[in-house]
Amino acid sequence: MVAVAILAAGRGTRMKSDLPKVLHQLGSHTLLERVLKSCVSIQASRQIVIVGYRGDLVKESLVNNINNDDNISTLEFVEQKEQLGTGHAIQQLLPHLKGFSDDLLVLNGDVPLLRPETLEQLIKTHKKYHNAATILTANLPNPKGYGRIFCDPNNIVTQIVEDRDCTAAQKQNHRINAGVYCFNWPILAKVLPQLTADNDQQEYYLTDVVNFLNPVMGVDVDDYQEILGINDRKNLAAAYDILQMRVKDNWMSAGVTLIDPDSITIDDTVLLQRDVIIEPQTHIRGRTVVGAGSRIGPGSLIEDSLIGKNVKVLYSVISDSTVADHTRIGPYAHLRGDSQVGSHCRVGNFVELKNAKVGDRTNAAHLSYLGDATLGEKVNIGAGTITANYDGVKKHQTKIGDRSKTGSNSVLVAPVTLGPDVTVAAGSIVTDDVPDDSLVIARSRQVVKPGWRLKESDESTKKTQE
Ligand code: UD1
Ligand code: CA
Repeated sequence: MVAVAILAAGRGTRMKSDLPKVLHQLGSHTLLERVLKSCVSIQASRQIVIVGYRGDLVKESLVNNINNDDNISTLEFVEQKEQLGTGHAIQQLLPHLKGFSDDLLVLNGDVPLLRPETLEQLIKTHKKYHNAATILTANLPNPKGYGRIFCDPNNIVTQIVEDRDCTAAQKQNHRINAGVYCFNWPILAKVLPQLTADNDQQEYYLTDVVNFLNPVMGVDVDDYQEILGINDRKNLAAAYDILQMRVKDNWMSAGVTLIDPDSITIDDTVLLQRDVIIEPQTHIRGRTVVGAGSRIGPGSLIEDSLIGKNVKVLYSVISDSTVADHTRIGPYAHLRGDSQVGSHCRVGNFVELKNAKVGDRTNAAHLSYLGDATLGEKVNIGAGTITANYDGVKKHQTKIGDRSKTGSNSVLVAPVTLGPDVTVAAGSIVTDDVPDDSLVIARSRQVVKPGWRLKESDESTKKTQE
């Protein structure tokens, strides 16, 4: 079975960043995570990541962010202490792959858009022709920055010349090296020590092994957008566009309406059901699922949340939360911190929910903060109701029973429990539990003094008139 090695030791100087290049985020994943995901289907016997610049950070990020279902339990890390080039990086594998007798797939850690089928095809071709090496190539409209690959009419590679080492004539060649290679490892292992650093960068280039191997075959990729290498922030933005186009095409084909797709972003980890409508300026991220018939936006952000069927979300932000079927959110609501809203609810106009559980058919339509609260069914939260959940040290719970109603501008000072069928008078500050089926008024009585008016002396009246 093939082994996979990913080159991830470089600093990525052209990114002008303190973060190693491969840890830059492309949508929901880092560049390196994307490269790893692209080769999961190959089921490699070993997966080796070559780390160097801030290697501990790279390792830590992979260990924390890749899920077990991504099949990376076999990840191994090999250190390239000094970054002396891509050839030098692969030389570091020599002691680790001693006795390994199959093929080695090598991927640059900064080529994040490869499709798994492309890699499968490359390996297939490599095995079919018993090549010493098979290299993924592409014809680019603008090949600037890439190594140019020269082949004979049978696609046998004769030379690879880095962009900076090319003559003016060589630069005219638009066929480039994608940075994806399949090698017969025992043959590669023999020639790796022969690399020299005789080039503009004085680095050991992996691409120079083609001078010692035979035959080396070039295989063109169908869609050249797959092989975009990320060297600077412009490349990163271009890759994001390509990724977004793929994701949106996919959902439109699956029966989702996107209104003004250019203004919408959807992570490739999101799941959308049929007849979802996404309105302009809406961003859906992380492990979000949106149920059939729901309408999201305009102007909304949904992250890591489950949205039911036929839900409407308008100008709102929802993160780490759940919204059940037929509920209306917004305009201008904020749901966060594992809030769970039932079905047929309404949460609107400047209402914030944090770790709030809301029963079915409950409404909180205006100007409220409900934090660390549990609301029953058919509750009505009056405008301006606040759960005072924080005493300066700890957070406390508020519970409101079914069918209860809070009057406008009431403050529920937690911990506090209101039974079912409770009515809270407007402007109340409720500090003690309220039993079922009762009215609570917790404010001072209105005082009316008939005939009272400000007594002003003649003199002060005069003064103000002057
Ligand atoms: C490389 C290829 C070029 C190809 C292009 C495709 C070489 C010499 N050139 O150029 O032909 O067209 O990729 O995108 O290979 N790295 C290490 N250790 C090092 C140097 C680099 O691990 O000492 C890693 C980097 O982290 C990166 C990858 O190798 O993930 C490629 O390095 P980079 O410097 O970006 O190579 P390019 O100049 O893009
Ligand atoms: Ca590169």
